[in-house]
Amino acid sequence: MGALGDVPIPHVGVSGHMITVENLVKEFSVAGGIKVAVDDISFELEVGEFFTLLGPSGCGKTTTLRSIAGLEKPTAGVISIDGRMVFDHRVLVPANKRGLGMVFQSYAVWPHMTVYDNVAFPLQVADERLRRSEMKTLVNEALELVDLGGLGDRAATMLSGGQQQRLSLARALVAKPKLLLLDEPLSNLDAKLRDRMRSELRVIQKQIGITTLFVTHDQVEALSMSDRVAVMNSGRLEQVGNPQEVYHDPVSAFVADFIGGANMFEGIVEAIEPDGSAVLRTDIGKILGRGLPGLAVGHAAVASIHLEDVVLTPDAATEVDRSNVFDGMVSLGLFNGPSVVYRVSVGDHVVEAQVGGHDTFEINASVAVVFPKRHIRILPRGEAERSAVDDAEMA
Ligand SMILES: Nc1ncnc2c1ncn2[C@@H]1O[C@H](COP(=O)(O)OP(=O)(O)OP(=O)(O)O)[C@@H](O)[C@H]1O
Ligand SMILES: [Mg+2]
Repeated sequence: MGALGDVPIPHVGVSGHMITVENLVKEFSVAGGIKVAVDDISFELEVGEFFTLLGPSGCGKTTTLRSIAGLEKPTAGVISIDGRMVFDHRVLVPANKRGLGMVFQSYAVWPHMTVYDNVAFPLQVADERLRRSEMKTLVNEALELVDLGGLGDRAATMLSGGQQQRLSLARALVAKPKLLLLDEPLSNLDAKLRDRMRSELRVIQKQIGITTLFVTHDQVEALSMSDRVAVMNSGRLEQVGNPQEVYHDPVSAFVADFIGGANMFEGIVEAIEPDGSAVLRTDIGKILGRGLPGLAVGHAAVASIHLEDVVLTPDAATEVDRSNVFDGMVSLGLFNGPSVVYRVSVGDHVVEAQVGGHDTFEINASVAVVFPKRHIRILPRGEAERSAVDDAEMA
């Protein structure tokens, strides 16, 4: 075996990718034409990674997940799982041969079965010859993993919502898949339970090190659980990055807006400084911030700053750097314990600022509102923003 071409293809892709999606497109025929649900997206998941598709309703998250699962036949593109091509224009590996576990939004357990039988069922279907003792070991391991050990004999319907959710997870994991696909698995749970399940799910995922593709429209869920987040908009990927990157360094107004918790001011770029910072002319005045490469004078753009980065001071005269300082008046304060969120009128705008719970301002007090330049992003308002607006108007 001398030539490089003779080297056998390793089981896991050379790059260590568990999933590779290249130029995936999925179109649906709908009354009156074609709906492009997934519009030429590419991404990959590292082995062991927790990767989240995040985006508004209808942006194509489920369609992407179902394409990877083999439940949807893509229009175009290439999908590989664990170094093996499962879809391209000649290949279509069926869902049950892709070696993955899935949990859906409606995590429906089978009500006429016991907890044990719910988990055993996928094994029975997959392999009729599996010995009873082996099956018992696998099922009990899966139930232990999700903390349902000892409840095997109970009717599945006699479990709480959170337990049923864990049961569906055990069912997805029992055959020891190398890949776990989760489509909004927590959305049927009440807020408190959802919170707890987030950390439980993440702990289980880390414990067994399973590569996980998670789908949600909840940005807090995405940020708190993921190694990396892909923000989707109208069938496209707007940004892929770790939670800190998509939160602190959004690449577009859409991402900043969707991730949330930011004040946004629309305007026109007036100048680009040699250091890359940009000056945006807005309704409240000029805002100076970090501009993205590609931004040019005359572009429509948005200045974005997180609530916790806004500084409120009683007196503007104390500010040494006069840029991004605005006169405001406090109109409302919402104390939540660790912090207070103030609404401050600046011209015709309302600025929201989150300050420590010990910093208090009187209603109607005059304050200086400061946007530290390093925390301001000047972001392009692209095609995607406009189409998102169009969609919202059509809905
Ligand atoms: N079988 C189908 N036939 C026609 N259109 C479809 C079909 N499935 C999905 N779509 C459309 O494709 C787009 C993407 O749908 P998808 O279910 O992937 O969105 P999603 O991001 O999962 O949304 P949600 O957060 O609401 O679950 C939507 O406009 C949807 O209406
Ligand atoms: Mg969906």
